[in-house]
Amino acid sequence: MNLKLQGKTAFITGSTAGIGFATAKSLAQEGVDVILNSRTTMKLKAAVVKLQHEFPAVSISGFAADFSKSNEVQALLKKLPEIDILINNVGIYAAGSYFESSDEDWYRQFEVNVMSGVRLSKSILPNMLAKNWGRILFISSECATLVPTDMISYSMTKAALHAVSRGLAQVTKGSEVTVNTVVPGSTLSEGAEQFLKTEAKKKGKTIAQVEESFFTEVRTSSLLQRFAKVEEVAHTITYLCSPLAAATNGSVIKVDGGSTGGIV
Ligand SMILES: NC(=O)c1ccc[n+]([C@@H]2O[C@H](COP(=O)([O-])OP(=O)(O)OC[C@H]3O[C@@H](n4cnc5c(N)ncnc54)[C@H](OP(=O)(O)O)[C@@H]3O)[C@@H](O)[C@H]2O)c1
Repeated sequence: MNLKLQGKTAFITGSTAGIGFATAKSLAQEGVDVILNSRTTMKLKAAVVKLQHEFPAVSISGFAADFSKSNEVQALLKKLPEIDILINNVGIYAAGSYFESSDEDWYRQFEVNVMSGVRLSKSILPNMLAKNWGRILFISSECATLVPTDMISYSMTKAALHAVSRGLAQVTKGSEVTVNTVVPGSTLSEGAEQFLKTEAKKKGKTIAQVEESFFTEVRTSSLLQRFAKVEEVAHTITYLCSPLAAATNGSVIKVDGGSTGGIV
């Protein structure tokens, strides 16, 4: 299938690893010029070189910016070229007891997970509307509806994204711009792989045993009963970025392995 994405420019936040990097790869494969982002200049350079080597026909670049620092975000906004596709992917979480969480934990996650997309969309959406084409995606989480008791603050930030995304979609009425929310379930990013390795070592089990017990004891509602591959999430994101997905706007698209249930 030709997704008709050649010649577009995408900016993906938090994209030197995990779902963000897999999405960058998938978009580059479709002929999209990709701008990567992370806090770490070294990691960013390495990711740009790796992707450019793999996809010499498109332009790969990167901008370092820490989304927990508003001054770095303001500097980034001044540097960004015209963007056709904005993927608000960056997300951090603090797991632990609600009663022991600090105000700082809540504000930091809100700043990175929510304000990143708020600030970028405010800067980029007007131009998308002016040229009558654009794609904005907010990467949420199954936690927005599952709200695990040890991740209430993270879940709050993801639920907030749904409202921002739907509100911005309404601003696009009558145009060829779309704004949607993607809901991944438990996904095997480098962070998740590290979690499995650490748990396996701690419990004297194999990684496969830890993964199995995560789904039989923790994420019991998952129909997939395994971690999704980052590519499985990235492919859905890539399709939603394409002109082929023009009729999907203001929607919540699940790639959660069935974990959040419901019939809509
Ligand atoms: N993995 C899952 O199971 C899962 C499930 C549901 C939803 N999600 C959501 O999907 C998105 C991607 O998750 P992921 O697991 O793929 O992420 P990840 O592997 O943790 O990706 C981390 C990326 O974000 C960058 N980053 C971290 N903090 C940053 C900051 N403050 N400013 C700029 N960049 C920053 C990292 O680079 P540096 O460290 O170099 O800055 C790296 O490029 C997130 O929004 C997450 O909440 C993930």
